[in-house]
Amino acid sequence: MDKIKKIGVLTSGGDAPGMNAAIRAVVRTCAFHEIACAGIYRGYEGMIEGDFIDLNARSVKGIINKGGTFLKSARSNGFRTKEGRQKAHNALKKAGIDALVTIGGDGTFTGAMIFNQEFNFPVIGIPGTIDNDIFGTSHTLGYDTTLNTVVDVIDKIRDTASSHNRLFFVEVMGRDVGHIALNVGVGAGAEEILIPEEDLGLDRLLDSLRRSKESGKSSSIVVVAEGDKIGKNVFELKDYVEEHLPEYEVRVSVLGHMQRGGSPSCFDRVLASRMGVKAVESLLDGKSNFMVGLLSDKIQLTPLEKAIKGQSKINKELIRVSDIMTT
Ligand code: F6P
Repeated sequence: MDKIKKIGVLTSGGDAPGMNAAIRAVVRTCAFHEIACAGIYRGYEGMIEGDFIDLNARSVKGIINKGGTFLKSARSNGFRTKEGRQKAHNALKKAGIDALVTIGGDGTFTGAMIFNQEFNFPVIGIPGTIDNDIFGTSHTLGYDTTLNTVVDVIDKIRDTASSHNRLFFVEVMGRDVGHIALNVGVGAGAEEILIPEEDLGLDRLLDSLRRSKESGKSSSIVVVAEGDKIGKNVFELKDYVEEHLPEYEVRVSVLGHMQRGGSPSCFDRVLASRMGVKAVESLLDGKSNFMVGLLSDKIQLTPLEKAIKGQSKINKELIRVSDIMTT
């Protein structure tokens, strides 16, 4: 493989806190190794259009603490087509970019893998999504920040719940997985946690709430993962519980996109920095088609294909801890 002279970096899919810190790390590692770096705007959309900006170590000052992504992000339909990918390849060649670091989730990695296969173009992925649903890393970028944001909000909701003796259903993000819900549920002391990986069932939910009341609790928080499969959405759950347990006054809070914003936690900034260094140095070592991830506190490589196809398993021990904590 020819020596890499210029690396392109992009963010794609849903933004996540820590993406800016990762871009900064990629740019500065390129500068450290005296190779050029270009930012690609709006993910694969900008790649197709050749929307690039040359970046040096100073271009990324003051962004480590910023949420979102200054390169912006998009979900690209054009890149799903062979024609779109050909255009993107032409644009990269024209700009002298000969390797890519893609920051995003499994959709981003699928695009990167296909691009690598079609054009033998060196790519390394950095997992950036609040959902933590990527195999090959214990933490994706943004996940830790989101946990802290959500715990903070639930603490505030609890003030109202306990002042008014209410039950709150709090819906959190996570797409099809329950990592956010399970962790914030334990962290915020929720009475029940509904996640897609475990079907609690409506009867058991009612039993649990009944027991909770009998044990002397005057207010309750139930955290519901957006992908939960109990068969009712949070608003239907409210009606159902009020109908069967009229002693409860129920409210619903759907937290939404506020969970994705805000300044990244220290953990996410450090993780982004480590991943950025490893991504660039892996490319310079001639590696391609891998994702960098955190495993046993080490930054390690997992083939992109495995990262996409593997499952990020829910922590069963944490489910048990949660069950014991709600006694
Ligand atoms: O993947 C991140 C995420 O925030 C999910 O938790 C959520 O289901 C989805 O993106 C929302 O996507 P959008 O911002 O396109 O509505």
